[in-house]
Amino acid sequence: MTRGAPAIEVLDADITRLTVDAIVNAANESLLGGGGVDGAIHRAAGPDLLAECRGIGGCPTGQARITAGYRLPAAHVIHTVGPVWHGGDRDEDRLLASCYRESLILAGRHQVASIAFPAISTGIYGYPADRAARIAARTVDETWTSDLPGMAGLERVLFVYFGAEAFAQGRAAVAEAAGQQRRD
Ligand code: APR
Repeated sequence: MTRGAPAIEVLDADITRLTVDAIVNAANESLLGGGGVDGAIHRAAGPDLLAECRGIGGCPTGQARITAGYRLPAAHVIHTVGPVWHGGDRDEDRLLASCYRESLILAGRHQVASIAFPAISTGIYGYPADRAARIAARTVDETWTSDLPGMAGLERVLFVYFGAEAFAQGRAAVAEAAGQQRRD
């Protein structure tokens, strides 16, 4: 069965409240929590999440690690570390794409059927939101339709934006990226 392009859902929501198999955390390399969505996820999950993260011992930029969700409605948290935006000439696009690909690969290994991504790197790390959304949409499409293990089990991918403006911008960028893919 050839798999079609994934039905990516874009929503304006607080990712910590979503009942999906896995939510993705925009973490830092220490995995010891922070502000933004990282802070929100740790607050909602409770102290056991930090305890498990401590045992992992960090995560390099562009890679992903999985933990339980604890008090979150999501069963798992996939922690990934996005690049800090420095203007675009320090491999940022490749590293951001790697966050989406590695998170999906990890999800596939853990029989995750539904996964929600925040807009990785577009907050404290300063990545331009529309450029990040295009990378996210393209990378999810490429990875999902690949024959990497576990992709067949992935049924729903959600892009979660926080706030009306971010949501409007993200939705437009994802739609444009999807349209571009169909033309390519
Ligand atoms: N649900 C969904 N999205 C959220 C939520 C939430 N509850 N809270 C924040 N966001 C959005 C932000 O609006 C932003 O668009 O997540 C996106 C990512 O922003 P950050 O959380 O600032 O993440 P990032 O830019 O990747 O910076 C990572 O920030 O929190 C620290 O420890 C983290 O050092 C790391 C850095």
